[in-house]
Amino acid sequence: MDRMDVTEEFAGIQLPGHLHTQQSLQYAQEFQFREGDVVIVTYPKSGTTWMQEILTLIYSQGDPTIATSVPNWVRAPWLEHTYFKDTLKNEEGPRFITTHLPSDTLAPALQKSKAKVIYIVRNPKDVAVSFYYFHKMARFLPDSGSFSEFLELFLEGKVYYGSWFDHVKGWYSQKNNLDIFYITYEDMHKDLRRSVKKLCSFLGCPMYSEEVDKIEEHCKFAVMSQNVMVNYTLIPQEILDHEQSKFMRKGVVGDWKNHLTDEQNETFDKIYKDKMLACDIDIVWNLD
Ligand code: A3P
Repeated sequence: MDRMDVTEEFAGIQLPGHLHTQQSLQYAQEFQFREGDVVIVTYPKSGTTWMQEILTLIYSQGDPTIATSVPNWVRAPWLEHTYFKDTLKNEEGPRFITTHLPSDTLAPALQKSKAKVIYIVRNPKDVAVSFYYFHKMARFLPDSGSFSEFLELFLEGKVYYGSWFDHVKGWYSQKNNLDIFYITYEDMHKDLRRSVKKLCSFLGCPMYSEEVDKIEEHCKFAVMSQNVMVNYTLIPQEILDHEQSKFMRKGVVGDWKNHLTDEQNETFDKIYKDKMLACDIDIVWNLD
């Protein structure tokens, strides 16, 4: 398989060479967004796929035909990936674009455009756990080692895609510069219906109650995990090994409690407090 052991350095972070090249990253940075574009921005493992599915269904008024026949990476391709240029549909109408890149690389271009940005944040303890399992399955990511080794790297920001703290702070600092909607994974979990309605209002897409019913049904974890267009089982095992872990793994809030020791949790809290001091973001760690 292509470039599985290659690492690309860009904007101070490391990215897997299987998905990125210097050319694709440059292309992303110079990309011209336009009015009508809807850009999903996340740190990995924060609910990106979930939002891609929700968006698809909002724009199809709850009709699952596209969601069940076109892979999510074609519906809302990653701006920085090598295949982006050839995948993005360029006809009229909203273009859905996904990205994990940090704010300093994209904010200038986004500010010039009238694109709408959706930023999803997930509590970083669950992100660390989810990312750890993703490293186990994704053959294009380095060996994650033990959970405690991975957690240390995650807290130091030395994992691929960079520091969670910097990503979130960077995109939160764009609050007044962009047409940006912030939502948390935990909000979506707690009340998907309310989250969909808020999104519809941000996007200017009025929705009938029956349409929201369909979106809610289709975007349930149990339904999405069976949808081959989003559960990544279409990707060959040599790239994503579903025997190591599933992409749709657990889909819960608070799985970190099954993984972090009391000591790791204390260290995490200390680092979080220190790094997020100036960021007025409300993180939900548990739902009970
Ligand atoms: P877990 O590994 O904790 O299960 P991303 O799409 O950004 O890579 O995020 C993947 C995470 O989102 C995985 O978390 C996955 O299970 C979860 N996820 C995907 N769809 C979901 C849904 N409909 N409901 C809840 N969680 C979902």
